[in-house]
Amino acid sequence: MSNWKKFGIDAPLVPVLYILAAILLFVQGYVLRPSAPIVLEVIAAGIVFIEGVLFLHTTVRGKYRLFDQLIPRLGVKATDQVLDLGCGRGALLSQLAGQLEQSGQAVGLDLWHSRDQSHNAATVTQRNMTVLGLTDRVKLVTGDMVALPFPDAQFDVITTSFALHNIHDAQQRQRTLQEAVRVLKPGGQLAIIDTGHHAAEYRQILSAAHLDIREARSLGMNGWWSGPWMTSYLVRGVKP
Ligand SMILES: C[S@@+](CC[C@H](N)C(=O)[O-])C[C@H]1O[C@@H](n2cnc3c(N)ncnc32)[C@H](O)[C@@H]1O
Repeated sequence: MSNWKKFGIDAPLVPVLYILAAILLFVQGYVLRPSAPIVLEVIAAGIVFIEGVLFLHTTVRGKYRLFDQLIPRLGVKATDQVLDLGCGRGALLSQLAGQLEQSGQAVGLDLWHSRDQSHNAATVTQRNMTVLGLTDRVKLVTGDMVALPFPDAQFDVITTSFALHNIHDAQQRQRTLQEAVRVLKPGGQLAIIDTGHHAAEYRQILSAAHLDIREARSLGMNGWWSGPWMTSYLVRGVKP
């Protein structure tokens, strides 16, 4: 089964709106006035259409390439305790769990918002883990990443992919990252992949929490959610 069928489409309304907007602009600019098309509107239709295609490319293919690049950098050990915040249907969680043996555990925490990922539900993620043969290593927790239901220093590796920007309040994002640092073991690492315009903010919060920043960089075309103005980035740090 292809990745997008298993793990869904991110923010599914967005590509639909892009394609609809492109069709409307094209109809208005060309079909309604074939003898004197409104050139600017036809060009705009083309640009909006390309934006929609780029978004779809990132959600069905590009982000998996980003995960493939991330996993070796994390150096997950077979016995590690791993936490993926906002795991959704398990695209990154399953790759993390694949690094573990039965003595390790990957915990996926989410509120399962279907506006953020199509058909998002704990049951769907659980079914994916069953199909992938990972149930012995994966535990799903329904919870808000702003207030984590875990004791201090429980996890060796914590990840979050394309989830943090869904928290719109800056103070809540700060609290989320402080919570992640709290439940991270000394020497453990936290890796954030996200989109939007918060890279500097995340880096600053992790630095203020005394993490040693190992990487903070843009992730290129595979992370373009419609274009270079909505790129993806990685911020990765280690707790002293
Ligand atoms: C775009 S999806 C990404 C899912 C997954 N990490 C991936 O890369 O495929 C964002 C996820 O964040 C979750 N989410 C949003 N706000 C959350 C919160 N405050 N606590 C936990 N999960 C949250 C949504 O339910 C959704 O599953």
